[in-house]
Amino acid sequence: MKITMIGTGYVGLVSGVCFSDFGHDVICVDKDPRKIEMLNAGEVPIYEPGLDTLMEKNVEAGRLSFTTDLASAVDGAEAVFIAVGTPTRRGDGHADLTYVMAAAEEVAQALTGYAVIVTKSTVPVGTNRKVKQVVAKANPAAEFDVASNPEFLREGAAIDDFMRPDRVVVGVQTDRAGDVMAEIYRPLFLRDFPIITTDLESAEMIKYAANAFLATKITFINEIAALCERVGADVKEVSKGIGLDNRIGNKFLHAGPGYGGSCFPKDTSALARIGQDHAVPQQIVETVIRVNDAVKLRMIEKLRDMCDGSFNGKTIAVLGVTFKPNTDDMRDAPSLTIVPALVGGGAKLRVVDPQGQREGEALLPGVHWLDDPYKAAQNADLVVVLTEWNEFRALDLKKLARKMSTPRMADLRNVYSPRDAKRAGFDAYESVGRKG
Ligand code: UGA
Repeated sequence: MKITMIGTGYVGLVSGVCFSDFGHDVICVDKDPRKIEMLNAGEVPIYEPGLDTLMEKNVEAGRLSFTTDLASAVDGAEAVFIAVGTPTRRGDGHADLTYVMAAAEEVAQALTGYAVIVTKSTVPVGTNRKVKQVVAKANPAAEFDVASNPEFLREGAAIDDFMRPDRVVVGVQTDRAGDVMAEIYRPLFLRDFPIITTDLESAEMIKYAANAFLATKITFINEIAALCERVGADVKEVSKGIGLDNRIGNKFLHAGPGYGGSCFPKDTSALARIGQDHAVPQQIVETVIRVNDAVKLRMIEKLRDMCDGSFNGKTIAVLGVTFKPNTDDMRDAPSLTIVPALVGGGAKLRVVDPQGQREGEALLPGVHWLDDPYKAAQNADLVVVLTEWNEFRALDLKKLARKMSTPRMADLRNVYSPRDAKRAGFDAYESVGRKG
């Protein structure tokens, strides 16, 4: 099957590469000639484990190519996926659909035969119907269906999530479109991964509801964590204790410095707006957004307390600034709130992140980048574990403590235990939701 993927961002590129690995012929399109040049040179513009080798394999097999020429890429395609960005619109919190609609219009003009136009970008309920109108208006003779196919992959685990999904969700209006989508996902279907076929609106809603639910779960445990600290409970035990109940489940119950990334903040905000527009305020989601902001501020206060009430003149080593490990993505990372507060308070910041420096340099001015946690800890007053990269999970705590002028650690991902830290010689150790 010939598939066109419009947009080579995170979702577009991973989906395009994985579809080609299913055996389909995939052409990925992007407006940005530099990106296409990079991809054609075999370079992956994002950091995602395993993506480079999978890409190389399928390019070599002749199933995967990259172009800026949308019209030629759409010519003869049976499915055209739109996976362009839907950032939060400035001012009102809505998802900005400019790129989706522009892509739909261009696709309409390039269609040469029947095709399913599939939206993979996360879009508000009702968008696929609008895409249909836009295409029909731009090319009244076009023979097409629309489909909604939200993506649930996580950065850092994208290929595995795509190849072994908990489910695939497909929203369609016609059997013909349903058949094309089933054909695309047949390799997964054959391996018994569930495919849910539904109407357009439900598919669109599933994506927002899933992300909002996960953000709620994290925020819930973060709030419980704050209470645990006060009452002397251990949030890790609490997570385990509630997570073993199958109705709750143990995933996404890790307390931390608040959720970030390119999806949860944007999607919760868009869902809150959709609720307001339909006079059904999503009160839980609205609260989650507020509480998550407060979690980050609470982390700053925790760090301030560890610095005897003031950051001024302190040397602080921050380990990890990406929003989570195994990605170079800094979008809405808690570090973007926390690090500037430390710098603004007069601290000298040393930052180590295995992949974050390239994006982080522009976003976190006034910090000193290093590539070794022990060097960063040299004569420092505080070490902060902000992202749980594997590189920071098994540090030689004794060695780290010895390097510091005052051995103190704020472990905002609960990677270590108060006991480990004490034994290694840390004077102070604070984590999230546990007594230090
Ligand atoms: C999220 C969803 O998990 C994916 O299913 C979805 O496809 C994706 O958004 C999207 O809409 O594109 P992602 O943003 O890549 O994926 O990352 P997650 O692993 O979900 O982590 C999001 C944030 O929550 C991170 O800041 C992470 O540190 C935080 N988190 C996650 C916690 O603080 N605690 C947890 O227990 C889990």
